[in-house]
Amino acid sequence: MVELHTNATLEKDLDSIFTSIQEASLKIYTILQKSLGEYTQNTNATGDTQLQADVQADLILQEAFKNIPCVQQICSEEQEKSILLHKEGLYSIAYDPLDGSSLMGANLSVGSIFGIYQGDFLPQNLVASAYVVYGMVVGIGFASLLKEGVEYFAYDGKEFHLQKCLRLLEKGKLNATGGTQKNWDKAHKENIESLFNAGYRLRYSGGMVPDLHHILVKGGGLFSYPATSDAPKGKLRMLFEVFPFAFIFKRAGGKAVSIQQTQEEKIVTPLLTLTPKHLHDTTPCFFGSNWEIDFVSK
Ligand code: AHG
Ligand code: MN
Ligand code: MN
Repeated sequence: MVELHTNATLEKDLDSIFTSIQEASLKIYTILQKSLGEYTQNTNATGDTQLQADVQADLILQEAFKNIPCVQQICSEEQEKSILLHKEGLYSIAYDPLDGSSLMGANLSVGSIFGIYQGDFLPQNLVASAYVVYGMVVGIGFASLLKEGVEYFAYDGKEFHLQKCLRLLEKGKLNATGGTQKNWDKAHKENIESLFNAGYRLRYSGGMVPDLHHILVKGGGLFSYPATSDAPKGKLRMLFEVFPFAFIFKRAGGKAVSIQQTQEEKIVTPLLTLTPKHLHDTTPCFFGSNWEIDFVSK
């Protein structure tokens, strides 16, 4: 756990960051409502072709964080490098401005993800995380070191209201698993099949935010994006997607690990102990309630 500045300062700073995420989310939602999922000609640092909405959402968030003096630097999935905002600021924010944006054309839910660090972009420095689900309503999940559980707020057309505190049970019923199945390794195939044989139901939209939010709302289950033969380091990005949700799942009473299977052994590492070498590094990742994560870690 990081040494906290003081709880009163942290609370005030997180309040201003969270308010700014709320305001930005409404601006992003307006863009989504006018958009049909049009692509640009450009690719981002991971090689994904950017949609117009990815670029617009990124700019909205950059502008929002520029107005908060306690934010020292930001780094976005859509930017190659981090951006220094306020030299004297205490916090670094890493974000995925629009997650699952390729689903927009199909009118499925998409999201935004934020990791808020006191100091540099290292998972041990996380003090809070947030995600926004753009669905029938705009919903925001927020967790910090100041409180147990994950607070979930929804916008009613006028303001955000706290709906509930999300906590995971010991064991759930949902199974969400990504990547091309023919490229999974044998151990992952067997684990996924055992869960289905034990009665788990497949719930996978292809948007990490709604898929993980679904598990949090239903109280448990497993989300996995494993190492595959075509992507041995997984697809999901540590800073923009994996660390913020690992923090959220831990605050909700669950677990989050990375699993690497070699011919000789299985290496299980808690996600929040990984050290990214580059801002855009990826990792295989497994998020869930305790029972499911213990099951896949065996
Ligand atoms: P992004 O739109 O930010 O590039 O992220 C998409 C991610 C994530 O939301 C989802 O879980 C995953 O890609 C889906 O990948 P597969 O289609 O390979 O399962
Ligand atoms: Mn994403
Ligand atoms: Mn994205």
